[in-house]
Amino acid sequence: MSKQPDALGIDIGGSGIKGAPVDTRKGRFTQKRLRIATPEGARPDAVADVVAEIVEHFEPEPGLPVGVTLPGVVVSGVARSAANIDPSWIGTDVRSLFAKRLGREVHVVNDADAAGVAERHHGAAEGQDGLVVLTTLGTGIGTALIMDGRLVPNSELGHIEIGGEDAETRAAESARDREGLDAAAWAGRLQTYYEALEQLLCPTLFVVGGGVSKRADEFLPLLHLSTPIVPATLKNKAGIIGAARLAAGR
Ligand code: BGC
Repeated sequence: MSKQPDALGIDIGGSGIKGAPVDTRKGRFTQKRLRIATPEGARPDAVADVVAEIVEHFEPEPGLPVGVTLPGVVVSGVARSAANIDPSWIGTDVRSLFAKRLGREVHVVNDADAAGVAERHHGAAEGQDGLVVLTTLGTGIGTALIMDGRLVPNSELGHIEIGGEDAETRAAESARDREGLDAAAWAGRLQTYYEALEQLLCPTLFVVGGGVSKRADEFLPLLHLSTPIVPATLKNKAGIIGAARLAAGR
C-alpha cells in the first residue's frame, strides 16, 4: 500500500466526525482514521473546530487538498438545505467558514455524493458504466447519481414524495427504528421507494450504503426490482474517500 496521501477526507455525521489522509488513486486510507464525537447541536462553528482538530492531527502538507462532507445540499460551498442538521447551516458559506478556520482551501460536498463517488471508483460499483444510483439509508436517505463515472451533484432523491409523504420519513433506517418495523414491513417500503426511483431514472445499478449495508442480507433479498441492487462495500470509509477524491479533483 502506498503511504502517500494526495488528499485528506473528513466526513461529518450526526454522531461522529471522522477523517483520514487518503491515497485517492487507490481509494485507501494512508493512516488510521481519527473520529471525534460530533459536538452537541452540531452548529457550524463548533463543527468547524472539530474539523480543524482533525486536520491538525494529521499535520498535512500545506498544499494537500482537504474534502469535507455535509449532510445537506452544497452549491459552490454554500449549504442550501438541512433536513437532519441544525437549520443554521442553511445559507452558511461552509467553504469559507472552514477555509478561514483552517487557513487552507477546503472542498465541501454532500455526504451521499461523496459516498457514491467512492463506491463507483473503489467499491461496489467499481468500473460500472451507465447510471449508478447510490442511496444511503440512515437518519435520512441520501442519494448520489454517477453517470459513466461522473457525479451529478445534489440529487436529493430521498425527498421525493411517495403517498403524500417525504420518502425518507417512510423508508429511512430511522423510520424503521422509530416505528419498530420488522424486516418484511421495512422491505415493503423500500420496494415502493426503489420502484419509484427505477421509474424516474432507469439506472444501471443501485448501491445501498449507510450503516445498513452491513446487514443487507436481511432486506435486499426481499426486494424485487428490474435493476440490480447491491450493498456498498466501503462501509463508513466511503464518505472520507469520496470527499478526498473530489477535493483532489478526480
Ligand atoms: C439530506 C441529504 C443527505 C441525506 C443523508 C438527507 O436528509 O437532505 O442531503 O445526503 O440526508 O445524510
